[in-house]
Amino acid sequence: MRKKIIAGNWKMNKTPSETKEFITALRPRVANTDNIVICAVPFVCIPAALEAASGSNIAIAAENMHFEDKGAYTGEVSGAMLQDLGVKYVIIGHSERREYFAETNETVNKKAHQAFKYGITPIICVGESLEQRDQGVTAEHIRTQVKIALIGLSGEQVASLVIAYEPIWAIGTGRTATTEQAQEVCKIVRDTVCELYGSDVADKVLVQYGGSVSASNSKSLFDMADIDGGLVGGASLKLDDFEVIANYTK
Ligand code: PGA
Repeated sequence: MRKKIIAGNWKMNKTPSETKEFITALRPRVANTDNIVICAVPFVCIPAALEAASGSNIAIAAENMHFEDKGAYTGEVSGAMLQDLGVKYVIIGHSERREYFAETNETVNKKAHQAFKYGITPIICVGESLEQRDQGVTAEHIRTQVKIALIGLSGEQVASLVIAYEPIWAIGTGRTATTEQAQEVCKIVRDTVCELYGSDVADKVLVQYGGSVSASNSKSLFDMADIDGGLVGGASLKLDDFEVIANYTK
């Protein structure tokens, strides 16, 4: 049985002080769940987040990382730096990074390899635009994104990583995909992994849905067979909402 994995993606929100306050308050609220609970926070908030989460069941993620070990990349952060802090997960290829910061399927693939090199579990994001959905090419687009992201990774690595299906039109819009739409594409993600790596790996890979997940719609989404939890933006910034989402039970 796959665990549910609920990750908050804070994006460019909260200062280090606010991070400390939020995670300290969140700890007791999620202490009794069997789900994997993650807060992905801005780079400068990571030390405060790790300290506040220390000894709890909350894991801390970065929202991005570079694909080289080190060098002349002003403003970038490496896998070695994240590993040294004790970061366990990293979001890779979020649609906002693809749109505003020139992330491509190829850099996503390089970053996935780099994350494993430093013992960090990648959360790889894929998703179609509204235009692609209207053109009827969602399945092809998702399959392409997944295939390229995974090039060169071993079955063991893929079985241990997370893929987040996030339709771009549902992110931050309040327009969630229906449970059927979300399930359909999360299954496409899993089927693509199955074609590439076989059913043992496909049964293990965790597939999240993301895009306007809220305290009121999370249960019906996470109840679906191929949806193993959520990548949560806006609602992860609110304690009461994230508490409900993270404490999902069937
Ligand atoms: P949202 O963001 O929940 O605010 O739609 C999700 C995401 O971008 O990961």
